Amino acid sequence: MTGKVVGISGSTVYVDLKGLKLLERVYVGHRMLAGEVVRLDGERAIVQVYEDTRGLGMNEPVKAGGAPLTVRLGPGLLSGMFDGLQRPLEKLRDETGPFIRIGKDMRALDCSAVRRFVPLKRKGDEVAPGENIGFVEEGAFRHFIAAGGRSQKRLSWTADGEISLEGPVGVFEDGEIITACSEWPVRVQRPCRRRLPVSGPIVTGQRSIDFLFPLARGGTAVLPGGFGTGKTILEQSIAKLADADIVVYVGCGERGNEMAEMIEEFLDLKDHWTGRPLMERTILVVNTSNMPVAAREASIYTAVTMAEYYRDMGYHVLFLADSLSRWAEALREISSSLEEMPGEEGYPTYLASRLSSFIQRAGVVETLSGATGSLSMVLSVSPPGADFTEPVTQACLRAGGAFLMLDTSLAHKRHFPAINWFQSYSLYSKDTIEVYIEKVSARWGTLMQRCRELLQKEQTLLEVSEIVGIEGLQDADRLVMRVAGMIRTEFLAQNAYTEDAFSPPEKTCAVITRILDYYDDASGRLKQGKGLEEI
Ligand SMILES: Nc1ncnc2c1ncn2[C@@H]1O[C@H](COP(=O)(O)OP(=O)(O)OP(=O)(O)O)[C@@H](O)[C@H]1O
Ligand SMILES: [Mg+2]
Repeated sequence: MTGKVVGISGSTVYVDLKGLKLLERVYVGHRMLAGEVVRLDGERAIVQVYEDTRGLGMNEPVKAGGAPLTVRLGPGLLSGMFDGLQRPLEKLRDETGPFIRIGKDMRALDCSAVRRFVPLKRKGDEVAPGENIGFVEEGAFRHFIAAGGRSQKRLSWTADGEISLEGPVGVFEDGEIITACSEWPVRVQRPCRRRLPVSGPIVTGQRSIDFLFPLARGGTAVLPGGFGTGKTILEQSIAKLADADIVVYVGCGERGNEMAEMIEEFLDLKDHWTGRPLMERTILVVNTSNMPVAAREASIYTAVTMAEYYRDMGYHVLFLADSLSRWAEALREISSSLEEMPGEEGYPTYLASRLSSFIQRAGVVETLSGATGSLSMVLSVSPPGADFTEPVTQACLRAGGAFLMLDTSLAHKRHFPAINWFQSYSLYSKDTIEVYIEKVSARWGTLMQRCRELLQKEQTLLEVSEIVGIEGLQDADRLVMRVAGMIRTEFLAQNAYTEDAFSPPEKTCAVITRILDYYDDASGRLKQGKGLEEI
């Protein structure tokens, strides 16, 4: 079906084309710019174009895509670098040079690649929708291939050995073909058998997180922080070091050079859990600030759909986005160009519901094939002026389970990660602590409690000492201040550029144990009448 452009306002394009559906993908103009139908208005459809519309003219042709925005799922996504519409960046560069030519539609996966298929089901086996019929090797992972369809059916054939990604890997008795690659609409959550409660910690290697504000598999952490408080460094450290099977990282509207540096670094690094190349377990989605805004809005959905796809194979997937505020700004821009009624600070009134339904895609699930997979999220938010009452931070706060507030004054003091230990919280402490108690130390819980108390006491003493002066405090109180200082500088602070960037739970436990043992020892000696200076 072809129609024509009847109006243009920035990236919002009015088209005359009958039969379009809401959220259907369309191609606009002679350059075939990709876009999405965002509103149907009588005869006209309003299309949000993902690319720069400069040079687009009236009456240029518009083609219907026939389906909503989808991503292509199949072997070869790992170690991929994609833009917000899942176009492979390297291939784009190879074909169009460093200045990406717009309107380039490209397949995310190299379908001509030949892979070895290992069947798990054979001729005559009954297979239910979502059940795995076999796998291909993808780096160190088994990339399971599941049957689609709506009902349980009997197989009449499965491949064994070399396959092309375009060809069939299985055929049902009724003639339906199973292929290794499939498409999935990005805005639709992938199904699972049932949702399970979050379980066990994700070790991030950041002492302040693992010890005080732990993340759980299937949980969501929100990292709000003002300008320069270390959001990007923390997100990237977690992406590099956390004990996830697969990591999907979205650079959403942030600086292009930071993303370029990250890609370069990642290409050289080894995964310290397995010793294999880090990129083998990583998918990067890049939609930096210099790329079109509408595609930025789509980019987090593109990325999370790929993350869900690997979750469905029974893997623990960690999804990181930097930053959700830029996504929300893109949403605001699109909404205002549609002249929708603005809500708080100009964001559309559906901001909170969009955000929470996005965050709902995290969780632990029993997959259709009966395995357990998880999708965990770490999302940074950049509130303007570090004002945490603004709508995006507030909406995230309501939907997330851990809230790691990055503090401007800590960042000014060069205390990194600048996680404020009073204002941050994690609802996952209970779900994770038992694992640390069992695997690392029976004292984990008590140590945590005591660490918190000392930091709290220090705060009170600081207030008192402002009145009476530090000399006015008793030795026992000055000891508390000294030990709390040690906790802050030797335990909670962690330089991302040194060996200390990753702290395994054993080390985390050893460092805090050493500090608290020192405290006990010194308090004991104070009680025996020794002076603080002597100790
Ligand atoms: N863990 C860390 N160890 C050492 N230095 C750090 C750490 N985290 C942040 N920094 C320092 O803080 C600077 C700013 O960090 P980063 O770029 O991550 O901030 P940001 O919050 O992403 O900023 P923006 O709001 O501009 O995106 C870094 O360049 C680095 O010097
Ligand atoms: Mg940043």
